[in-house]
Amino acid sequence: MADHWVENHKRDSWRRQAKASGYRARSAFKLKQIQAKFELMREGDVVLDVGCHPGGWAQVAVEEVGETGIVVGIDLEPCQPVDGALLMVGDITDSLTQERIVKELGDRQVNSVISDISPDITGKWDVDQAVAMTLVAKVFDFALPLLCSGGWFVTKLFQGVGVEELIEAVKPHFSYVRRFSPEASRNSSSEVYLICRNHTPWNAKSTSVLNRYEQAVNKILGGDDIIDDVVATKTSFTVRRKKTE
Ligand SMILES: C[S@@+](CC[C@H](N)C(=O)[O-])C[C@H]1O[C@@H](n2cnc3c(N)ncnc32)[C@H](O)[C@@H]1O
Repeated sequence: MADHWVENHKRDSWRRQAKASGYRARSAFKLKQIQAKFELMREGDVVLDVGCHPGGWAQVAVEEVGETGIVVGIDLEPCQPVDGALLMVGDITDSLTQERIVKELGDRQVNSVISDISPDITGKWDVDQAVAMTLVAKVFDFALPLLCSGGWFVTKLFQGVGVEELIEAVKPHFSYVRRFSPEASRNSSSEVYLICRNHTPWNAKSTSVLNRYEQAVNKILGGDDIIDDVVATKTSFTVRRKKTE
């Protein structure tokens, strides 16, 4: 009960600070704290903001990249405009949405992908976790080819089944991959941010994070086992045919 009270109090405090500073969501402070520690965005950068509604991260990204930079955001929900950012509505896993993003970027490569994406929660913990992990893997598969060599990828994850497998699937693409929990999200949930630095596109054997992730998860769940030494069991079951006249 006391823990719950402290948790709520902290959350409210970030919310109040966000309001006072003109940010749309307390999540803005999470990105600010990630930025303060890792300096992933710089003036003039191209940033792809995945799951951008209501626009808190986009506000922070615009501050960091300045007038010479570009911020493109995508979310299922429409956002109020953010000066200096192009915020689009669509499903990041949908090929038409992906085409629109690629078109907006033109021939520019992305310096940082910042993804705070989280699917709707059903309350069934294991289902939610599986859906969230798969969604993150799909974002990697779409956005990695757009990311420049040396680029950054920051994504929200929920601690639980499949996290280690996802991290292993991502590692070949970057020279540095670690988890980070910003002060603004501590105690609030199982959420953690995966910080991937220095994109190394020449390093990964397979480009699909989703495939590697699914293979690894199937292995731990035993779903992919092919049993080829099965001995047929005897059965007393017989088929009786109806006599025809
Ligand atoms: C925690 S919110 C993001 C908050 C945002 N970073 C901010 O600071 O304002 C997560 C968002 O992910 C979005 N989302 C979930 N699935 C998505 C999908 N398939 N494509 C695009 N956005 C998605 C949700 O609509 C939700 O707005």
